[in-house]
Amino acid sequence: MSNPSKPLNMAVLFTPLDVGDITIANRIGMSAMTRNRADARRIPNNIMKKYYLQRALGGAGLIVSEATLISPQSSQYDRSPGIWNMEQVAGWKKITNVVHLAGSKIYCQLWHVGRLNKSDAETQSPTESIHGPSDIPARGGRGCLHFLPGNSEFGIATSIPDPLKFVQLFKDAAANAKLAGFDGVESNGFLVHQFLDSTSNRRTDKWGGSCENRARLGLEILKGLVEVFGPNVSLKISPGMGKPGCPSLSLAEGQSNIRMPLQDTIETFSYFVSEADKLKLAYITLARYAPHIDPTIDGKKRGTPHDLLSTYGKFINNAKTFLVGGVSPEEAEELVKSGQVNGAFFGMPWLAHPDFAKRIGHGKRMDNLPAMSHLYGDVNVDLCLGYTDYPAVTY
Ligand SMILES: Cc1cc2nc3c(=O)[nH]c(=O)nc-3n(C[C@H](O)[C@H](O)[C@H](O)COP(=O)(O)O)c2cc1C
Repeated sequence: MSNPSKPLNMAVLFTPLDVGDITIANRIGMSAMTRNRADARRIPNNIMKKYYLQRALGGAGLIVSEATLISPQSSQYDRSPGIWNMEQVAGWKKITNVVHLAGSKIYCQLWHVGRLNKSDAETQSPTESIHGPSDIPARGGRGCLHFLPGNSEFGIATSIPDPLKFVQLFKDAAANAKLAGFDGVESNGFLVHQFLDSTSNRRTDKWGGSCENRARLGLEILKGLVEVFGPNVSLKISPGMGKPGCPSLSLAEGQSNIRMPLQDTIETFSYFVSEADKLKLAYITLARYAPHIDPTIDGKKRGTPHDLLSTYGKFINNAKTFLVGGVSPEEAEELVKSGQVNGAFFGMPWLAHPDFAKRIGHGKRMDNLPAMSHLYGDVNVDLCLGYTDYPAVTY
């Protein structure tokens, strides 16, 4: 993390950018971060409104919401928000309103965890199946059961009979996101990644086997989202990690237990990215491998580290390119200047600094420490702790 003692020359990061059919004020995005502060019915609340408003006022060009459930049957956590009903839409509407009044923009990241679903999570019917591409359970393990009782193993997934039903769930959620005033929607990993990866997808129908077949679900979802949101649809992928990272709890490859060999990963994601780019998306975010969240299992790291910009950047010709994952403001400025990316997303820096972009612009120190024990809140503690109580500096 940069700790400048004098203002930095970050002029390029502060130039506006057209993304889909909106313009964002700068190249400093806030990446999706699950924080589990919604109410028990997964309705966004005033605490969340304050959190997003703080970061909009802190200068975020584009905020991506925390991953937001598209169905009651799609979570591994309690208190993560949803967007499948009108009460949730009304809750989100209050958030998008204040973000817009503060001059920022906000996308909704749509979420189905696939086989990482826990049948005892809130709003989940215990009799409903856990759905995945094939009937292969995820590994489970410590840290995957936020607030949930019981053991830490995942059940055996039921192979989804008709994946098009899940495409429809994403489309319905996107329609709700539109009603809620979001500027766009983002598709993430999880179910999509489980279909892409040949170690979790063993299907023999048109949704499994070849790269083309394994990428079909992700592409159908994107096409469905484009039907609802036009050019304001984005994609976040993490080819080296299995799913977007989560620094504290080894939630990446280990528990998901996904891992194609590197060559298959490159082949699959090259196809997926180049086909996705043909859909004229707003932007594609490449989430970098992070060694500190890659667990060692049976003596081996699980990730497949490779350089995402040089591997996949060449396939992104229509969408804007964003990078996330341990990016510093200085690196972001250099990457934008050299034309390798159009902007960068930041996660942890925004978590601990509500005014992260303003601090960059004013050369202020990034001196708040993230409260790791409050990343995901807790039922027995004040939800504002480690959430809305990080101080901004005085300008
Ligand atoms: C607490 C926390 C929760 C996260 N939840 C999500 C999420 O819901 N969706 C997602 O795509 N990535 C999620 N991430 C990953 C971040 O979006 C980002 O890709 C990652 O933290 C790397 O960026 P950074 O090094 O700037 O923190 C989460 C990260 C953190 C720290």
